[in-house]
Amino acid sequence: MAHTVVIFGASGDLTSRKLVPALYNLTRSGSLPTDTRIVGFSRTPMSDDQWRASLRETTAKHCECGPLDDASWSRFAAGIHYQPGDIGQPADFASLEARLGQLEGGAEASRVYYLATAPQFYEPVVSALGAHGMAAETHGPRRIVVEKPFGTDLATARALNDQLHAVFRERQVFRIDHYLGKESVQNILALRFANTIFEPIWNRRYIDHVQITVAEEVKVGRRGGYYDTAGVLRDMFQNHLLQLLMVTAMEAPVRFEATAVRNEKVKVLDAIRPLALGEVADAGVRGQYRGYRDEPGVPADSQTATFGAVRLEIDNWRWQGVPFYLRSGKAMSCRTTQIVIGFRQPPLELFAEGRRTFHREANRLVIQIQPAEGIQLHFHTKVPGAGMKLRLTDLEFSYSREFSGRLPEAYEPLLLDVMEGDASLFARADEVEKSWEIIDPFVQAWGGTTMPQVDAYEPGDWGPMASVDWMAAQGRTWFDQCPVLT
Ligand code: BG6
Repeated sequence: MAHTVVIFGASGDLTSRKLVPALYNLTRSGSLPTDTRIVGFSRTPMSDDQWRASLRETTAKHCECGPLDDASWSRFAAGIHYQPGDIGQPADFASLEARLGQLEGGAEASRVYYLATAPQFYEPVVSALGAHGMAAETHGPRRIVVEKPFGTDLATARALNDQLHAVFRERQVFRIDHYLGKESVQNILALRFANTIFEPIWNRRYIDHVQITVAEEVKVGRRGGYYDTAGVLRDMFQNHLLQLLMVTAMEAPVRFEATAVRNEKVKVLDAIRPLALGEVADAGVRGQYRGYRDEPGVPADSQTATFGAVRLEIDNWRWQGVPFYLRSGKAMSCRTTQIVIGFRQPPLELFAEGRRTFHREANRLVIQIQPAEGIQLHFHTKVPGAGMKLRLTDLEFSYSREFSGRLPEAYEPLLLDVMEGDASLFARADEVEKSWEIIDPFVQAWGGTTMPQVDAYEPGDWGPMASVDWMAAQGRTWFDQCPVLT
């Protein structure tokens, strides 16, 4: 069956930076079904050829694939079409439907509607698709991809789910979180559930705590207007960090398919201990990098957090008493995303004379998601020579050493999954709502008028000093290392 990918917001950044480069890379690697066409829809008046020419330029810049391959590009470009239109004009949806029908030649085709617009256009597009019968599956599957942000809190996420469900069935809806498309995030599932050696120790008996850090070196740049209304909690925690937490903490699904996988993920969210507003202050730290208020679009007195750290407790048999620390920030010391499984100390200190308490770092497993992908296991080894002097050493697995070729960009597998109708790596309605339920109290508390001023940190630091002190007060330290794998 042929595939049609309709992109709303065709002249936007997401389309040119991520979606089209991903579709081009899939064409180049031969993974995109050959009978796939891409139809862009946006207000900018352009012909097919003009859009193709502009995409050629932007794809060359953003595809991270070296110079474009002429033959692959020509093959790819032949399937690109453009339909100018205004989301607010019903007649433009009638023209779009007519154009799609003509391109598909009246045959059965699977369609993906991709919402790459600003979020305020999600609802108008969805209802226009409904009004024009474009969600009906009489001529093949119809699926819709919804980008983040999925709402700005629980109430708006619920409203958006209701709007989607008024037109589409849940199985037609794909809420994308590009973190789930990253190879090394999917590898967490392989690490945990394709091996026997990790699962027996993956619990409260052996694990002291878990740290999930998404540090970015970049500042907010020209996204200040958006960022100041979102802050780090909405921008990173409700989606990416909670997704990383879910894949780290979930139980093994009974089979690897969408319902089973997502059921297990939702159970993790269900088990997260709800916090009353008064408890939130102790369960997190926020910060703002110095210079943020000078960014374009940011008010001079902004209290928006560009750094956040929160502690979540999962009340179930596996994780009771094991805090999960989630941390993310802009203008940090380096770009690194890592999950650190901090193990408990052994029951006895044998090797430090006269001491009963441990002064050594405990074992850890560091799963590095980016920039380089891989895993390190940290453990103590005897230093050769007299006496029992120990040193922390590691075992390392690196994707780039183990596998040749480039790793696919996150959007590539996800786009293929939507085309194939596999929703395993997409968020379900209840999953996004529960995520908001967890994050909303932090957003409210951090935005509250009774909160002290947000702590400042220097660009290049690991957040404010308060974050270090907060961890120390809990008897732990952050694993502040720039990529352990390069
Ligand atoms: C986006 C956020 O969802 O994720 C950005 O809006 C952030 O602020 C980005 O920079 C990080 O994604 P990645 O894949 O570069 O870690």
